Amino acid sequence: LEGLFIFAMKIITTIAEMKAITKELTCCGKSIGLVPTMGYLHHGHLSLMQASIGQNSCTIVSIFVNPTQFGPREDLATYPQDAAGDEEKCRSVGVNLIFRPSASEIYGSHYQTFVEVNQISNHLCGKSRPGHFRGVATIVLKLFNIISPTRAYFGLKDYQQVQIIRRMVRDFNLDIEIVPCPIVRESDGLAMSSRNAYLNAEDRIHATGLYDSLKTASDLFTAGERRSSHLLDVITTRIERIPDAKPDYIKIVDSQTLEDIEEIGDQALVALAVRIGKTRLIDSIILKNN
Ligand code: PAF
Repeated sequence: LEGLFIFAMKIITTIAEMKAITKELTCCGKSIGLVPTMGYLHHGHLSLMQASIGQNSCTIVSIFVNPTQFGPREDLATYPQDAAGDEEKCRSVGVNLIFRPSASEIYGSHYQTFVEVNQISNHLCGKSRPGHFRGVATIVLKLFNIISPTRAYFGLKDYQQVQIIRRMVRDFNLDIEIVPCPIVRESDGLAMSSRNAYLNAEDRIHATGLYDSLKTASDLFTAGERRSSHLLDVITTRIERIPDAKPDYIKIVDSQTLEDIEEIGDQALVALAVRIGKTRLIDSIILKNN
């Protein structure tokens, strides 16, 4: 175990070995930070790792392209992967362990048990991606059970995912601190995502329109606008001007329940999912009274 903290980063592929290590860490009173990912790591992921490294004795990054969170017509087969690049990035920030199991290691055969977080999963991405959050909640609970982390780190780019995991942790009485981390953006504002790799050069330029539209809404909110309908009109008009853009949803919702709101009070979430060419991108911004 001592070697974990002195020697090179370790890569674990079996549940048995992962459990044995985390059991020993927990017995020695070490705190464990978990950063769950699907790989093809970018600076957003690295910021989660850095947050974990700052707060825990040991940081574990899981890399698993989770089949149960992809719909039948989604991009499971083409999801970008770069095992060597991911290892290098984890090593560069000082991660202690990578947990990189195979799909059969995680789901075996005749897998039957799933976690459904109701209500909050029915809005936003949950509506357009049926079953997605069931797959996310299931794999995250499995990772929590295998790794027993003290804290787990999630990016707020997937705002709804963070709320669903928090709900699950409360509902299942898990002793795990969920640490939400800010969205990391490219210098032109595009939220970092592994799926940005799908964008061709033109789409990549057009994709900056998403954050621009959210910023415009935020500026209007700061200037006193509180009507969701007006802000949504402004965002929609801006998005409609982007060539090849097809909105999936553009919503202003309560930041806790994710239900639509008409008149913004102290705080709201503006969230959108837009297809630019063939790539579905999501982004969001919190509007908050000072
Ligand atoms: O956000 C992701 O990359 C995934 O949804 C997660 C949390 C790793 C579960 O597969």
